[in-house]
Amino acid sequence: TQASNFAKDLAGKKILLSAGGTIEPIDPVRYLANRSSGKMGYALAEVAQSRGAKVTLVSGPTALKAPKGVEVINVKTAREMEAEMLAHYATADFVIMAAAVADYRLAQVYEQKVKKVGETWQLNLVRNPDILKHLGELKQQQLLVGFAAETTELVKHATEKLRQKNVDLLVANDVSRKDIGFGTNDNAALLLTRDKAPQETGKMTKQQLANLIYDRLLELAKERE
Ligand code: CTP
Ligand code: CA
Repeated sequence: TQASNFAKDLAGKKILLSAGGTIEPIDPVRYLANRSSGKMGYALAEVAQSRGAKVTLVSGPTALKAPKGVEVINVKTAREMEAEMLAHYATADFVIMAAAVADYRLAQVYEQKVKKVGETWQLNLVRNPDILKHLGELKQQQLLVGFAAETTELVKHATEKLRQKNVDLLVANDVSRKDIGFGTNDNAALLLTRDKAPQETGKMTKQQLANLIYDRLLELAKERE
């Protein structure tokens, strides 16, 4: 992020991020996972740090190395992630949920390894808390950012999420596109805010998208002054 090395325009800002996918245990050897490399969230952490912010990164399991100087809190399940996001929420300026949170978990986790006996196996799942929605309900001074992964009707679904979760900026991705998104280094997104027309970013690196997100957040913060 050469462009932002000299611009410490996030100095004094506290940024709370989530990244990666959460995992939900089934038994001691198996789990349900959500697809996410963590690259977008880690890019957001790295860029914020280089622009001078104080960064806390709540991360699900990933293969990535934490950027230097960033406080990293490792979690596994959605409920653990929620607890850590809430614990650090009160003092944050910008809060970004880039994590792919498992929507469901096992109603009951098996204490012992389940032997494969039958030809089929039915798991009973219950809903996980919606962390972003919860943060939206508790929002005070924070500017709140959500992501939306969609395969159909991107604008419609993303607009609904913006409203329902009370977020200030929603970054919507078409995850059915093979050239961007999951596991790739590139992204192309639609940025939605409450008052302006949706902004298409075009294809760019996750670092560039991160920079754009912070530019928008600084604008929104300024409008509030
Ligand atoms: N999110 C969350 N907690 C959940 C599920 C999602 O905080 N239990 C957050 C994600 O981190 C993301 C946003 O909500 O910032 C949208 O996630 P997405 O999976 O696209 O939407 P959902 O609300 O889960 O709806 P659905 O999966 O049914 O489309
Ligand atoms: Ca979901």
